[in-house]
Amino acid sequence: MPNILLVGNGAREHAIAEAISRSKQNPRLFSYMKANNPGIASLSEKTLLGGYADLAAITGFARENKIEFAVIGPEDPLANGVVDALTSCGIGSVGPSRSLARLETSKAFTRNLVSKYRIPGNPRYKIFTDTNGMEAFVDSLEGIVIKPDGLTGGKGVLVQGDHFSTKDEALSLCRQILSDTASVIIEEKFDGEEFSLQCLCDGKTVIPTPLVQDHKRRFELDRGPNTGGMGSYSLPDHTMPFLRPSDLEEGLEITRLLAAALLEETGEPYKGVMYGGFIATKDGARLLEYNARFGDPEAMNILPLLKTDFVEVCRHIIAGELDKINIEFEPLATVCKYVVPEGYGLPADEGGGPPAGARIEIGDVGRARLYYSSVDQKDDGLYLSSSRAIGIVGIAKTLAEARLIADEGVRAIKGPVSYRQDIGTDALIRKRVEHMKAIRPK
Ligand SMILES: Nc1ncnc2c1ncn2[C@@H]1O[C@H](COP(=O)(O)OP(=O)(O)O)[C@@H](O)[C@H]1O
Ligand SMILES: [Mg+2]
Repeated sequence: MPNILLVGNGAREHAIAEAISRSKQNPRLFSYMKANNPGIASLSEKTLLGGYADLAAITGFARENKIEFAVIGPEDPLANGVVDALTSCGIGSVGPSRSLARLETSKAFTRNLVSKYRIPGNPRYKIFTDTNGMEAFVDSLEGIVIKPDGLTGGKGVLVQGDHFSTKDEALSLCRQILSDTASVIIEEKFDGEEFSLQCLCDGKTVIPTPLVQDHKRRFELDRGPNTGGMGSYSLPDHTMPFLRPSDLEEGLEITRLLAAALLEETGEPYKGVMYGGFIATKDGARLLEYNARFGDPEAMNILPLLKTDFVEVCRHIIAGELDKINIEFEPLATVCKYVVPEGYGLPADEGGGPPAGARIEIGDVGRARLYYSSVDQKDDGLYLSSSRAIGIVGIAKTLAEARLIADEGVRAIKGPVSYRQDIGTDALIRKRVEHMKAIRPK
C-alpha cells in the first residue's frame, strides 16, 4: 500500500486523485491543498491545508506520512521548488525541479532553448529588457504577439487583433510591461487552430496522451476575455478533426527534441508532464508555449480514459523507465465543461468580481463525472468563489453523446452560474475544419 502525496486543490487535482484512487495498488492518498477541495478530501486518507510557498510544511507532511512519491498538480509549487525540497528528503515526484520548470515559468527560457538546439516550431521572436530596437522589430512583423516573461495564470499574453490593433499600441503595451517586469517577448503571430499535446516524460522517453482542445475564451464562439479555460474535448481516435497526422507527429517530435535539450542543458532528467500548446498553421505545427503540468481542464479529458494503472505510470516516470510500460487510453470521446460564477472573467464594472457568498446546489449529474474546483464547503452548503467552480465531464463512444452527458450534468448545478454551450458542438468543430481548409487548401 503505497502512500502518495498530491499537491494541489483544483479540478485537475481532483481528476489526478481519482486516477490514483483507481489503482490496483491500494494507494493511500495524502493531499496538501491551498483550499479544501471536497472531492479530493473525500478520496484522501489525510489532508493538510497550507500555501504552496510553504515548502517546510509540504516536506514535513510528506515525511510524517512516509510518502513513497508525490504528484504535483499546479505550476505554483513547481515554480517555488517543491520538487527540489522533496528530492532532498529522498522523495521522488511527478513534476520537474524548479530549474526544469522554467519550461513553463519562463517563456523566454523555452524560446531560447528551442532556438539554441535548432528545434523546429518557434515563431520569429525577440526578447527585450529595454526598448532598444523594439520599434524596428515590431515593424518587421506582420502580426504581433506580446508575452510577459513569467507566470500570468493564462491571462498575460496580448494578441494583435484581440487585445490591441496598431503597432503603436503594441509598443506602448510593451513599455508598460517592461515597467513591471524584467523582460518582454515579442513574437510573430501565427494563423491556425490550436491543440494541446500533453506528454509524459521520464527524462528520456516521451509518451503522448490523447489530443485535447481547450477553450480559453469566456463566451460562445470564442468571444470575450481569456480565462483559465472554460472547457475542452477529445475524440475517440485521440486526434483532432482539423489536424493532419503530420501536425501531431511534429508536435511530438518537438517535445522529444526539447526533452533531450533540457537534459543536455541542465544535466537533469525532466520527470513529469510536458504539455505543449501548439498551433497547426499552413506550414505545419508551431509552438505557442509549454506547461510543466497537466492542463486544467485538459487533465479531466485524459485521466479518466487511462487504462494503465496511474500509480505504475508515476513510478515508471520517476524511475526513468517509461520505455518499459505500455500506456493505454480508452478510445472514447470526452467533453469537459466548466461551471463558473456568472461574472467570471469579467471586469467589475461589467458584473465581474467575486459573487458575495453565492450558494450552489448540486443535483443529480446523471452519467456525468463531477470534479470540484474552487468551491467552499461550509456547514450550511457549498459556496462559489470568484474562480471556476466545478468541472463536468461526459465520456461516451461519440462526441455528440459525450456532450449530451456533460450538458445534463451541467444543468444539475443550480445557482448564479454559467457555462459555455458550444464546447464540443459540430458547429464549432466545423468552423475549425473550415478555417484549416482555408489556410491550407491542399
Ligand atoms: N505566436 C502566437 N501566434 C498566435 N497566437 C498566439 C501566439 N502565442 C500565443 N497565442 C495565443 O495566446 C494564447 C495564450 O498564449 P500562451 O503562449 O499559451 O500563454 P499562456 O497560456 O501562458 O497565456 C494562446 O492560447 C494563443 O491563443
Ligand atoms: Mg497557453
